[in-house]
Amino acid sequence: MVKTLFGISVVRLLALSSSLLALISWASSLTLQDDRAAAWPYGPFLVSGTEMKNSQGDSIVYAGTNWDGHGEVMIPDGLQYQSVESVVSMIKSLGMNAIRLTYPIQLVDQIYDNGGKDTTVQSSFIQALGQTNGTKVYSQFLAKNPSFNTNTTRLQVFDAVAAERHSWFGDSDYNVANWVRGLTYMANHGKSWTALTSISLRNELRSPDNNATLKSESYNWRDWYTFIKQGSSAINAANSDILIFLSGLDFDTWITPMVQGTAMTPGTATYSAVDFPGYANKLVLEIHNYNNDATNCSSLQSTLYHDGFQAMHPEDSEAVNVLPVLLTEFGFEQTSTEWQRTYATCIANYLSQQKAGWFIWVISGSYYIRSGTQDYDETWGLLTHDWSAWRSQSYIDGGLKPLVENTAKG
Ligand SMILES: *[C@@H]1O[C@H](CO)[C@@H](O)[C@H](O)[C@H]1NC(C)=O
Ligand SMILES: *[C@@H]1O[C@H](CO)[C@@H](O)[C@H](O)[C@H]1NC(C)=O
Ligand SMILES: *[C@@H]1O[C@H](CO)[C@@H](O)[C@H](O)[C@H]1NC(C)=O
Ligand SMILES: *[C@@H]1O[C@H](CO)[C@@H](O)[C@H](O)[C@H]1NC(C)=O
Repeated sequence: MVKTLFGISVVRLLALSSSLLALISWASSLTLQDDRAAAWPYGPFLVSGTEMKNSQGDSIVYAGTNWDGHGEVMIPDGLQYQSVESVVSMIKSLGMNAIRLTYPIQLVDQIYDNGGKDTTVQSSFIQALGQTNGTKVYSQFLAKNPSFNTNTTRLQVFDAVAAERHSWFGDSDYNVANWVRGLTYMANHGKSWTALTSISLRNELRSPDNNATLKSESYNWRDWYTFIKQGSSAINAANSDILIFLSGLDFDTWITPMVQGTAMTPGTATYSAVDFPGYANKLVLEIHNYNNDATNCSSLQSTLYHDGFQAMHPEDSEAVNVLPVLLTEFGFEQTSTEWQRTYATCIANYLSQQKAGWFIWVISGSYYIRSGTQDYDETWGLLTHDWSAWRSQSYIDGGLKPLVENTAKG
């Protein structure tokens, strides 16, 4: 279904546990896609040094956008305003080659609770927005997306699954077994997608501030490493063809112990490929950065470097483990001026220099519901409230398109 919907050949899944992520991608140019449609995307991908490569040995650099789907409705946002096809075609018009779709693990939990069956989008809208608004927004969704109908399930809309956003392994509302089960389910499910090439473990691991004991005893690199091994092993057992993205602590802002090979504190273990038997060459690192008030670009770039990008510098003796690193989230208010300030220009320069993959937050204009407010305006969204036009045309032309050019196509 997703394949048909997107009308393009490639679907990647990037599953994070706190909010699992799906990555949908197509060939980096239409010509390529047409010519190579039969074999695209040339999976499985592998990691070689600092690069992700397809099975033909070409390096792959993702240049894309996040698309939020882990809100209460549990389908990608904006579909009451625009069709899937039109959102995708706007993304493609930027030259981007990937989409990172977020989705909640809870979706898989509900499928298990429901005897293996997903619930319909219709009931999901009503559940999230209430009878009156849910019914209304669902009918707008159908009007914009006529290939869906009353039987359409959430998985059929974006075919992916995952987690909670604010918890840590072991929280009362966060269950490791369910997480592993969710990753396994999605890694398996994704086999039916033409080009599932990556899956991620968890989104933005946050400190479990609601549980001081858990926080002090477990929110650390030692336990992170334990769970990362479990999750990645489950994914690899379910589907050995996909890359596995690892994200670090503190909202995924840093993953330095993986890079520098230092102790996973308070333990003493260090990253070792033998802990990922047969699939260490599937591991990719990701970080997020939202230092929006930065005024000093060298300082921001130094932060990015030490938080993760150092892994792309084998010439640096401190980079004990060399791996590809992607900036899977960064973003800022879509005004005519914000993109010209230090944070945005500095990150764009950095990604271009590093030839690193990235995903901007976010292709959106509004959320079905966020923080309890329905039809919530996303001022950081690339699109206007009704998802019909770019919110900041000057950024699209002056900042975003050049960034795509300089990374994916550079
Ligand atoms: C339902 O939608 C209307 C706008 O269409 C909004 O004003 C109202 O707050 C929504 N109801 C709830 C419960 O959020
Ligand atoms: C929905 O499913 C039911 C039961 O399988 C079927 O009778 C009905 O025709 C379907 N509706 C649509 C619109 O496909
Ligand atoms: C807090 O964490 C501890 C240690 O994992 C756990 O035993 C306890 O049930 C948790 N309490 C709550 C309220 O989640
Ligand atoms: C900017 O950051 C660099 C590197 O951290 C530092 O050496 C420099 O002094 C800073 N410049 C200003 C103007 O603060």
